[in-house]
Amino acid sequence: MTVWFATGNPHKQQELAAILHGHSVIIPSEAGIIFAPEENGASFIDNVLIKAKALYRFVHAPVIADDSGLCVDALNGRPGVHSARYGSENGVNLSSEERNALLLKELGENPWRAARFVCAMALMLSEDRFFIVQETLEGELSWTASGAGGFGYDPILYLPSMSCTVAEVSDVEKNRISHRGKAGRAIGRILETLALP
Ligand code: IMP
Repeated sequence: MTVWFATGNPHKQQELAAILHGHSVIIPSEAGIIFAPEENGASFIDNVLIKAKALYRFVHAPVIADDSGLCVDALNGRPGVHSARYGSENGVNLSSEERNALLLKELGENPWRAARFVCAMALMLSEDRFFIVQETLEGELSWTASGAGGFGYDPILYLPSMSCTVAEVSDVEKNRISHRGKAGRAIGRILETLALP
């Protein structure tokens, strides 16, 4: 099956294509579609539906959308849906290093460090027929950034079960344990069981 993926990020496209092997995953830019819906939902699931619906209205074909971020318990779940824009002012974005340093500074010496990556993902077959999953990668905010792999907040999410940060595990291992990997595989299983008209 051909599935549209509501993202502008070719790296995410490759990741999902590897999970959904046997299906072809295309992104809007490949078809010249300018896709930049306003992600102003209050939750990951709100945003995922905003993205999925916006692309579905363009293509009228099966669509997958995802939305993810880092939620810190001691900060009432922030930065959460604002993870990509955390610390940005007047439209000027911070680098990942600056953003990570700012978040560690905001949590300060607080010993309550529970945090997780969250990924919501939807498979939309029509505006009234869709499946949503939400998965997590549980960890703790580290005391300092560590590791050079991955992206974004990976160097500051410590995994007690592996005694390292997410930026210190291999791409293959991250994909096995990550919020996005688990959500993608769940969507893949749904896709396999669907008898599409
Ligand atoms: P979006 O899901 O593309 O809208 O972006 C979510 C934002 O959350 C990213 O820009 C990152 O800041 C953060 N994020 C989501 N998943 C990860 C991850 O696996 N590692 C590090 N940061 C992540």
